[in-house]
Amino acid sequence: MNEAPIGIFDSGVGGLTVMKAVMHRLPGESICYFGDNARGPYGSRDIGEIRGFALEIAAFLEDLGVKLIVIACNSATSAGLLEVQRRCRVPVLGVVEPGARGAVQATHNRRIGVIGTRATISSRAYLRAIHALDAGATVHSRACPSLVDFVEGGEVEGPRVEEEVRRYLAPLLRRGVDTLVLGCTHYPLISKVIGDVAGEGVSLISSDWEV
Ligand code: DGL
Repeated sequence: MNEAPIGIFDSGVGGLTVMKAVMHRLPGESICYFGDNARGPYGSRDIGEIRGFALEIAAFLEDLGVKLIVIACNSATSAGLLEVQRRCRVPVLGVVEPGARGAVQATHNRRIGVIGTRATISSRAYLRAIHALDAGATVHSRACPSLVDFVEGGEVEGPRVEEEVRRYLAPLLRRGVDTLVLGCTHYPLISKVIGDVAGEGVSLISSDWEV
């Protein structure tokens, strides 16, 4: 077995949800985690700027000798996965394609909702990834910028979070989505509220386990 660590990075702490899932599935692996607390959150930044951050961090992790890099950030994956893959010598995985695959497998009515940061939603990365797997699926996307602020502030439940989730999900639920991609590493931390608002008929797809 290659003893080198797996490198995982995110704009901050959100990617720890992915790291936890990787540690659970691959308990024998060592992991080097980089959280860019100095510059995160990324979600409302310019796509080109986020891509630059992703390239820098990936190069840093490669210099540390990691054998594989996981971009555990939807915004960074959407902005720069292909560019990072092109520049790196080691394999690089993102979180968008696994989430898209999970959604296509879970949906029955082929109406898929995607929530994420402004950067992720405006890049249309999930739309492309879902349509690459099922061109007939209907995708309804919504940027939910304030949810990251709640999680970063440690507010992961309660009436204020619930009201905001309700407001964001209402248009997606009206369109009958039966599957909802949590397209942001912070959202698994409020998945209880999201699940309660979405209701039992909606499957939640979370990047952490899909990766
Ligand atoms: N990690 C980011 C993502 O998954 C969420 C936080 C941020 O805006 O940087 O998109």
